Parts: sequence; structure tokens; C-alpha cells
Amino acid sequence: MKITLGNKVVLIGTGAVGSSYAYALMNQGICDELVLVDLNEEKAKGDVMDLDHGIVYAPSPINIKFGSYEECEDAAIVVICAGAAQKPGETRLDLVSKNVKIFEVIVEKIMDSGFNGILLVATNPVDILAYATWKFSGLPKERVIGSGTVLDSARFRYLLGKEFDTAPSSVHGYIIGEHGDSQVPVWSLANISGTMLAPQLSEDRQLELEIQVRDAAYKIIESKGATYYGIAMGLARITKAILKNENVVLPIGALLDGEYGQKDVYIGVPSVINRRGIKNIVELSLDTNEFEKLFKSIKTLKDIQTQIWE
Ligand code: LAC
Repeated sequence: MKITLGNKVVLIGTGAVGSSYAYALMNQGICDELVLVDLNEEKAKGDVMDLDHGIVYAPSPINIKFGSYEECEDAAIVVICAGAAQKPGETRLDLVSKNVKIFEVIVEKIMDSGFNGILLVATNPVDILAYATWKFSGLPKERVIGSGTVLDSARFRYLLGKEFDTAPSSVHGYIIGEHGDSQVPVWSLANISGTMLAPQLSEDRQLELEIQVRDAAYKIIESKGATYYGIAMGLARITKAILKNENVVLPIGALLDGEYGQKDVYIGVPSVINRRGIKNIVELSLDTNEFEKLFKSIKTLKDIQTQIWE
């Protein structure tokens, strides 16, 4: 794949998640060109103007504009945040048929521009929509990335950091599988500087913490109607890893192609990310309980894929 040297990002969908992501990109100086695309042109143009007025205080210059799908042609990354969002009481999987139809249209418009970069998908149910994006786009699997469990893992690390009075950046732990109710906390590998955490927590406390992670979005949606800051930070982190060619491990959504003995499904798994997209999946040595939970999570997603595509 010819690597475009630019750092142009095109954002499709400037709702709460998309506009928070745009703000994070500017705040962290992650890219030098950002195009906002949205059906609501007026709102997107307002976002552009609002962001522009912060540039003087940003760490580096960035050219932000409203645009159309044609802008995807020379983009390094196109990020899709558009689609129907979860309402109070709705699961992420309730959104699936609505958003698959929306994605078929969006991905076709992106590919019609001649786009040949990396697609990053955030809209829920993100694992199903990352799979849909891979199928609709025809791009190689390493260049179609879902946000996966990047946020779930951040929530896990944050809560463990609180539990052990340690910065979350020094807590190493992953949530894998569905970005949703069947997600799998990998307790057997959670550690601080190699000191395993599970033996220091009762089974009850482990269950309390993993439920707090799993149900976080529902609580936030009940309180404020939607979640957007946490996911925006995760998307910005993935974008930085790509544009800076970091080869860093992040729990993003990747297509399994034999890992964990599974194929043809997108799930959140730790993967090495660089300028070419997903370099490789890092297959964790899970314990029996974790393997069983992962298979259940994969089955949940594959059952939905079967309903949609078979
Ligand atoms: C959440 C959304 C991004 O977990 O699904 O907050």
C-alpha cells in the first residue's frame, strides 16, 4: 500500500462523539488537516468555526474545514461517527439494522471518492459496523479498524487505578470481545509492573468492578443522554498511533483471521497499530474461563452477522 504522507483526517458525522473527537484532535495537535462532513451542514460549519477560534491556543497549526465526501480521496484516515445513537434503555445491538443501512450508503460514498487510506469506525454497534465497513469497502482487513474495546479497557484501567491508588497509565489490563454486554475482562493478565491484580481482589470485588465497566455507558446515557468524551479520547489515541506510525498496542476492533481459533468477526483485541493500520493482533494467553466468555461474545456477534448477511 502506498502510504500517503499527509496527515489529513476526514470525519463523517459531527454529532456529540464526532465533534468531541475533532476537539481532541485539535487539542492534542494530532493532525494538520481535518475535514468535517455531516448531513447537517449548518451545524458542521458551526463546529468548524467554533474549533477555528481555538486554534491559536492549540499545540500546533491545523486547517479545519467543512467538506463533502470528495475530500476523502487523499485522506490518510476517514473516521465514521455518523449513525443513530443509543437511547436510554437501548442496547448497542438494538441499533444494528438502522446503522448497517446507513453505513452502506456512507461507505459507498467514501470509496467512490477514490479513498485508499484507513477507515476507523466508532458508531455502535461498533463490532458489527466495523465488519460491515470491511465488507462494503473492499479494503484489506488491516485498514478497517473499529474502536473496539479501547474505551472499555480505559474504563477498566481507570477503575483499577482507583482501586490500587495508581495512575491508570501504569495499570495494564484489557477488556476484549464485544464492545457491549458480552465483553470479557482479562483478569488473569491485569497487572501493575508485573504484579498481578486479581489475587489481590475478592471474586465479589472483581465482579463489582467488571459490572461497573460493562454498565458505564448505560449510567452515563441515563445521566446526560449520551457518552462522547471517553470514546473521543480513544479515537484520538488510535488516530495518533496511526499518523505517528507508533507500532503501539491498543485494544481496537480487528477482524479475527484464525486468532483464538476464530474467523470472520470483528472484536476488540489488543493489536499493534501503525501507519499501515493493524500490523498484527497480539493473541493473549487466556485462562479457560476467559476463553469460554470470549467464545460467547463472538457467538453473540456472529449470530447477528448471520441475521444480516445470510
Ligand atoms: C460507550 C459508547 C461509545 O461505551 O458505546 O460509551
